[in-house]
Amino acid sequence: MNGMKFEEMLAPDLKSLQHCAESLVASLRGGEIIGLVGELGAGKTTFVQYMAKAMGIKKPVRSPTFILMQCFPSGHSFRKKTGIVEMCHIDAYRLKGEDELFAIGFGDYAEREDCVTVIEWADRIESVSWLEDYREIRFTVDENQKRHLECYFRK
Ligand SMILES: Nc1ncnc2c1ncn2[C@@H]1O[C@H](COP(=O)(O)OP(=O)(O)O)[C@@H](O)[C@H]1O
Ligand SMILES: [Mg+2]
Repeated sequence: MNGMKFEEMLAPDLKSLQHCAESLVASLRGGEIIGLVGELGAGKTTFVQYMAKAMGIKKPVRSPTFILMQCFPSGHSFRKKTGIVEMCHIDAYRLKGEDELFAIGFGDYAEREDCVTVIEWADRIESVSWLEDYREIRFTVDENQKRHLECYFRK
C-alpha cells in the first residue's frame, strides 16, 4: 500500500461495523474501487450489506462466491444526491488473476464514474491496488479478539 494513508476504526460489534460502512458510503463520489481484505468470517460480506443499505439498495446482497459478480441499482434518493447509480459486488476468492477479473466484466464498471465497485478478497489480485480510485479496507482482529478496520486511501 505504497503512498497510501490509513485510518483505523474499531468495529467490535455489528452496530459499529454498520457505522463504518455508513461513513465510507458518505465519502463516496463515484468511480471508487473498494477492496475488502480479511479472512473468512472477518465481516466483508456484512460490510457490503451495510454499504448497500446506506445506498438505498433494496435487493438482498449475498455472498457472491458462486456468482463472482453482482450489480445492484442504488436507491432513488441516494442516486439523486450522489449520481452513483449502481454498486457492483465482486468476490475474487476463486479468480485466478487480473485476466479473469476483466473477463467477468470488471473493466466496464471500473471505468464508470457513476458506479462503485466493491471487491471481496481484493488482495488475490495485486494489480487492482494500483488503480487510481482504489481504497482498501482490511479487517483485522487484535490480541484481545477485538475487531478493527484499517482503511487505506490516497491523498
Ligand atoms: N464487526 C463485527 N462484529 C460482530 N460480528 C461480526 C462483525 N463482522 C462480522 N460479524 C459476523 O461474522 C459473521 C461472518 O461475517 P461475513 O460478513 O460473512 O464474513 P466474510 O464475508 O468476511 O467471510 C457474520 O455472522 C457476521 O454477522
Ligand atoms: Mg464473504
